[in-house]
Amino acid sequence: MRKINLFDTTLRDGEQSAGVNLNAKEKLQIALQLERLGVDIMEAGFPASSKGDFSAVQEIARTIKNCSVTGLARSVKTDIDAAWEALKDGANPRLHVFLATSPIHMQYKLKQTPDQVIETAVESVKYASKFFPLIQWSAEDACRSELPFLAKIVERVIAAGANVINIPDTVGYINPKEYGEIFQYLKSNVKGIENVILSAHCHDDLGMATANSLAAIENGAGQIEGTINGIGERAGNASLEEIGVALHIRSDYFGAKTNMKLDEIKKTSDLVSKLTGMMIPPNKAVVGKNAFAHESGIHQDGVLKEKTTYEIISPELVGVGSNAMVLGKHSGRHAFKSKVAELGFNVTEEETHKIFKTFKTLSERKKEFTDEDIAALVIEEKVEK
Ligand code: KIV
Ligand code: ZN
Repeated sequence: MRKINLFDTTLRDGEQSAGVNLNAKEKLQIALQLERLGVDIMEAGFPASSKGDFSAVQEIARTIKNCSVTGLARSVKTDIDAAWEALKDGANPRLHVFLATSPIHMQYKLKQTPDQVIETAVESVKYASKFFPLIQWSAEDACRSELPFLAKIVERVIAAGANVINIPDTVGYINPKEYGEIFQYLKSNVKGIENVILSAHCHDDLGMATANSLAAIENGAGQIEGTINGIGERAGNASLEEIGVALHIRSDYFGAKTNMKLDEIKKTSDLVSKLTGMMIPPNKAVVGKNAFAHESGIHQDGVLKEKTTYEIISPELVGVGSNAMVLGKHSGRHAFKSKVAELGFNVTEEETHKIFKTFKTLSERKKEFTDEDIAALVIEEKVEK
């Protein structure tokens, strides 16, 4: 099976979520949990962006031993210097340097011609290779770039010393088929591409970040970037936990594996949610509160007979205690009986029939029933008798 490197950017792109601001202590706490989760690379921040981020990246680089710590830099010497200062004491330092390659970004943001952009990119990689043993180069807005230009600049930065080439879908614009074709195009048109690792970095503006990341793997990417819970700029980044679990569950299809310790997912997700203050939507894949909850009678009956009828991921796999049978208006007698037994009540068929009828009537008005609600219904029936 092919090994896919997981590059976590919760502490950099994730922290760029509107309203999120992590202090150094909180960043370190998340970094230590990411190390336990088994990511291969963590992007700890953007050292040139502020004194606080510089110190946080430095402390993380000095503490984390089991994965490579990286920091972001624009294609300017001062950013690269700051990144080196922050990362140099780390176990396995690497630089993440980027420059935009799309006509829109080159014209309006950089105000540079394509030739000037190539020169800036090459100079930055050459400069960085004086210090860094590993350099990742990212073509910002790659997915809206012209492919021949993208191929040309990628070839030049590889020749200048880049080891990892990242193809970000910066604005979440691409779809899986097109994204795969970009990887194929680069593999066929760039000299030296076989000597580097290709990386995918997807944003979720059109809700396709996970699908696009998986398409990149199918087309030769050896590294996937993302964040825990999919936090990040605007609609966020690809959710790293979704990708780790998808590769595991569908290893038959993808033939690829990661080092992610799947049973650390829930803990990591909860920590990131708590420290960033970003709530996890209940229906979020893998980590949402409802990801393992069954409400309808047909589903509950199926799961009680055999879990795999409606559960493709077992909750234990990702560190969630167990599934949940939520009693509500769609629930059936089988789940109801099972809940009453689980609460320790001994009830006859006749009693069950009556209590279930009351429950069904109430469920027209009440959305969800707690264990206490169910216990109260049973006790009421027993007392009335
Ligand atoms: O989305 C993006 O293009 C980025 C780059 C800095 C890699 O986050
Ligand atoms: Zn990004």
